[in-house]
Amino acid sequence: MSELRDVNVPEVIRAPRTDPVYNCHAYLTKVPLAAIVPFVEQFTRPGEVVLDPFAGSGMTGIAAAMQGRRAQLADISVLGQHIARGYLTETNPSELRAAAKDVVREARKALGDLYTTKRATDGKRTEMARVVWSFTYVCPACSQSMVYFKHLRKGGTAQPDACPSCKGEFVRRSWPRAGDVPVQVVVRGAEGKLVEQEPQDLDRAAVERAAADPRQSQVPSLPIDEHREMYRRSALGKHGLGETKLFFSPRNAIALLELLKAIDGVVDDRLRTKLRFAFTAILPRASRRYQWGPKRPLNAQNQTYYIAPVYYEWNVFDLFLRKVEAAIRADEEVFRAMPLFARDVAGNVRYEVASADVLSHIADASVDYVFTDPPFGSNIFYSDMNLFQEAWLGSTTAHEREAVMHTTGRKKDGAADRYEALLRGAFSEAFRVLKPERFMSVVFGNSNGAIWGLVQRALRDAGFESVPVHIAILDKGQRSVKGLNSGSEGVVTVDLIMTVRKPDDRERDEVKVPVQAEAADLLDAALTSLDEERARNPSYVYAATVREAIRRHERVDHVHLSDVLIALRNAGYTLDGKTGLLNKPVSARRLRAAASSAATTVG
Ligand SMILES: C[S@@+](CC[C@H](N)C(=O)[O-])C[C@H]1O[C@@H](n2cnc3c(N)ncnc32)[C@H](O)[C@@H]1O
Repeated sequence: MSELRDVNVPEVIRAPRTDPVYNCHAYLTKVPLAAIVPFVEQFTRPGEVVLDPFAGSGMTGIAAAMQGRRAQLADISVLGQHIARGYLTETNPSELRAAAKDVVREARKALGDLYTTKRATDGKRTEMARVVWSFTYVCPACSQSMVYFKHLRKGGTAQPDACPSCKGEFVRRSWPRAGDVPVQVVVRGAEGKLVEQEPQDLDRAAVERAAADPRQSQVPSLPIDEHREMYRRSALGKHGLGETKLFFSPRNAIALLELLKAIDGVVDDRLRTKLRFAFTAILPRASRRYQWGPKRPLNAQNQTYYIAPVYYEWNVFDLFLRKVEAAIRADEEVFRAMPLFARDVAGNVRYEVASADVLSHIADASVDYVFTDPPFGSNIFYSDMNLFQEAWLGSTTAHEREAVMHTTGRKKDGAADRYEALLRGAFSEAFRVLKPERFMSVVFGNSNGAIWGLVQRALRDAGFESVPVHIAILDKGQRSVKGLNSGSEGVVTVDLIMTVRKPDDRERDEVKVPVQAEAADLLDAALTSLDEERARNPSYVYAATVREAIRRHERVDHVHLSDVLIALRNAGYTLDGKTGLLNKPVSARRLRAAASSAATTVG
């Protein structure tokens, strides 16, 4: 592999997050398998070892195993290890289906009649498919309460605008709340179709019984206390949501408790592992985080602890049985492609809960390739969000060494330095365990040039060659960037995958510090490096600008998304509000002007 001449990995990788493996179990910011496979194929041979020290849900390990490679995975995330283990456990579909039915039967029995409702059309007792719940607000002027759902406007797409009693303006943020109420019950009609009906006394009584059920004290829960960044970002104090169990309706909390008890009674290790995997996979939708939408459900937002004013209480058993089918489809995908000799996944893929900067269990120069996706600065607080599932796993992520930049609270001071030190430590460990003349690919995305600069330094300080051998743009198919008009906000929706080489000891030259970027030139080159369609996407333009700077070994610290956006706007680019795409200025001269105006704004 050291004789690498041509890198055959595409310059732009589109890997939409639609495959059955990706979608089977959510984890924050997974990398789709389709984005990893070309790298594994390019930089390793069958049987070689791939390392991912920020492994998360283990996508690198799965991609490696599917290609007949071995993998060493590490992450501080207990949830990540649990998910990866679930994915990599092959089960027999009919045995899994049968075991799932058994555990559901047992849990249903233990739940009793808490899900029982009466079908309005024929009075028949049946199990609810889901219940829609609404916040109730109290008008500060007249003290009358308002059930939010009942006063939605424009077919459910616009929030209430005034108090239905005194007509005072409705201000969601400042109106106090009373208890949540069920507003719609969905049951299966006689012909099998789902039908909506009004909640009845029977439903309200079941809800009350669930809340008073002594099993509530057995429901696993973890505090999300004020020291956690997500406590502040999700305003959990204000909403009285300082513990994970509060995100579940009392009824679903008991259904989940009984389901997990039944799963834990399954004797076969593989089946139990897969069923526990399906169990954690349904938790967001089984919770109050599953948002109602007028046309279709809106997914639970997995990066924040948010409960929408109208949310679902979905039948846990339906969710679980459907998830088991999804797990069977994912298995088919993972194991069908896997070469026979690689099927001993337990022997071929090892996942340690460890910090990326302390990989003492891995020997020097023992790894053939590294593919990794570290946390992107201050974007996501994995360990805080993991608590939601880890409460049910009985073990939590040790977050003291988490590579993340706090933006609030005590940990804010020195956050960038700590983050950089951790990345430097992680890249140094990757360097140590990697064989000389081999490669490491790092997925990274950010809209802040300073964070890119920090990654550039960390890679250099670890000893990797300063100029990557390949930089790809990774497009996971997110919506395009908003905020061009304000010029100051925006989120980058595409990432870069930078592949750097570990030099041989003899080749080590003096460390070169990148020079200040010529911004005008960079933007110009970035625009010409993209095809016409992508050059209209602000995220692509920004990523290509950063890529150009890194390729030229120029400093990226001052290349911020906001500056690139302002430069584009100054040059006559406009943003199509609907598509989020740029409309080109009419003349080529203005394109040049975009680049020169960037010279003054960027850096
Ligand atoms: C972007 S995610 C990786 C997702 C992964 N590529 C996947 O497909 O699921 C970053 C991961 O870094 C982990 N992490 C944060 N600090 C760490 C550290 N010091 N050592 C190891 N992992 C860490 C987080 O727990 C998170 O799982």
